[in-house]
Amino acid sequence: MTKIGLLSIGAFVPEQKLTNQDLEKMVDTTDDWIVQRTGIRERRIAPKDMHASDMALEAARNCLRDTDITPDLFVASSGTSEKSCPYQASIVANRLKLKKPACFDINATCSGLVYGLAVASSMMAAAQYQYGLVTASEKMSLFTNYRDRRSCILFGDGAAAILLSKENWEHELLAVELGSDPEGFEFVTMGAREGDPYFWQDGQKIFRFAVNTISRLIDALKVKAGLEEQDHFYIVPHQANLRIAQAVADRKNIPMDRFIMNIEKYGNTSSASIGLALEEAWRNNRFKKGDTIFLIGFGGGLSWAGAAIRW
Ligand code: UT7
Repeated sequence: MTKIGLLSIGAFVPEQKLTNQDLEKMVDTTDDWIVQRTGIRERRIAPKDMHASDMALEAARNCLRDTDITPDLFVASSGTSEKSCPYQASIVANRLKLKKPACFDINATCSGLVYGLAVASSMMAAAQYQYGLVTASEKMSLFTNYRDRRSCILFGDGAAAILLSKENWEHELLAVELGSDPEGFEFVTMGAREGDPYFWQDGQKIFRFAVNTISRLIDALKVKAGLEEQDHFYIVPHQANLRIAQAVADRKNIPMDRFIMNIEKYGNTSSASIGLALEEAWRNNRFKKGDTIFLIGFGGGLSWAGAAIRW
């Protein structure tokens, strides 16, 4: 089986911050409630004329900046694209001046980046593609109702990108594990009716689903990646709620410092969130060679996706 690995990671967030204090002036909420229940302190909001494709482009440029590589395969994950057609991957591929890449969009909500890694790496192993670029970009503010305190405190905008290679990679992709529970397809809904954005979720059901899913995927990925009991691993979960990571840490008896979290700064950026956290950890040299990193996504659908990477 051809081995595929990560070469580089990029990220982009808009400059404008929306703090809990700003939200206190907009809806009936408090900084204390938001921090206690979610761990979020601020999030980034893209200006009106900055679309998900613009953020994907910036993350991709950051990812490719120190290489002279032109990807021949490009997968763009987004649930918040500005248009159905042209599709996001084609807009970004045009602006990156890619030469006749295989390129397409996917949407698996918050699991999208990890689904993208699984799809791109499988195509690279099965066919001629040498370099696969995967982006995950979300303009969550497009579908956020800033009069609804239950949801507007959660979301932020941002994008991440990962470059995969068949050769000379830095970090091996060891295993992936994908799945979904379509019986719960209505437990998270998001969209816009006649221009009116809405988001609804059964928060407590999704919370339990998230804790169960992350716990189960840690076990499954440990086996698939061949980890021994004493092997050191980190978890980069979808950043939906700090309390979800704390509940998994308690249940599985894993120290909290093994969970890579930056929800405090960016809130829930759906499929971009794992990439934003991974890029920050990578930039800050958080991992040592030989560590195993589990990327774990979960969300609407109800979808889940895990990937194990050897650093
Ligand atoms: O990314 C997709 C995957 N999604 C998730 O993983 C989400 C998982 N779920 C969660 O993170 C949590 O369920 C939430 C953060 C969404 C909500 O937290 P919760 O502890 O489940 O709160 P709740 O919805 O049960 O609401 C508790 C109370 C309610 O008041 P009553 O009915 O007890 O009087 C809400 O009206 O808190 C109230 N409330 C608020 N109060 C102040 C809800 N939102 C707010 C708010 N500020 N922003």
